[in-house]
Amino acid sequence: MPATTLAAAAGTPTDPGRNCPLCPRLVEYRHAVRERDPQGFNAPVPSFGDSSAALLIVGLAPGVQGANRSGRPFTGDYAGDLLYATLLEYGFASGTYQARPDDGLILHDCRITNAVRCVPPQNKPLPVEITTCRPFLIATMEMMPRLRAIVLLGRVAHDTMLKTLGIRAVLAPFSHGAVHDAGRFKLYDSYHCSRYNTNTRVLTPDMFRSVFARVKADLAKG
Ligand code: URA
Repeated sequence: MPATTLAAAAGTPTDPGRNCPLCPRLVEYRHAVRERDPQGFNAPVPSFGDSSAALLIVGLAPGVQGANRSGRPFTGDYAGDLLYATLLEYGFASGTYQARPDDGLILHDCRITNAVRCVPPQNKPLPVEITTCRPFLIATMEMMPRLRAIVLLGRVAHDTMLKTLGIRAVLAPFSHGAVHDAGRFKLYDSYHCSRYNTNTRVLTPDMFRSVFARVKADLAKG
């Protein structure tokens, strides 16, 4: 695997502004959802957790009923139930996850972000939207001086991370449980903890746990 470099354009912030105009389709959808649900957060969802963390978890995009409404990644989304339960079990979080941003849950040595920060229609961002949002992912990683472990939830997160790091796809194929060395980072692939994947048992809680058990063991090695 080649040594990897990160290079966000100078001055790119880690999070898009509330009214980020970059993806016209997502802006239109955001406005439609804001009209329907004016009490919701309804804006690009910022990363959750401290930038001093060694672990970054990358999801797909906020869900319309969950993160887009609550303003915290995976919070209120079905996928968050398994994710936060697993983080609590492995010591990457403490407190009680109650599916709301003021539940007091604290992440430890862990940060959560999304490949695309705005809620997409049908939960499916377009390739151009993933590309447009990538500079925020790069800026997020650049602001994490201790970053060593990156958990990629699903193929979109995996693919955008390979592009972020300039790694050829053939050198790091996606498969659940795969670990790819990427210079100073290790990339951990996992099936996304979506309702579909868990209901169909494509991803079981044990399969998900094994990813975080490996991350925990690797980080403990120093
Ligand atoms: N909620 C998120 O914030 N990200 C996902 O990938 C899924 C649900």
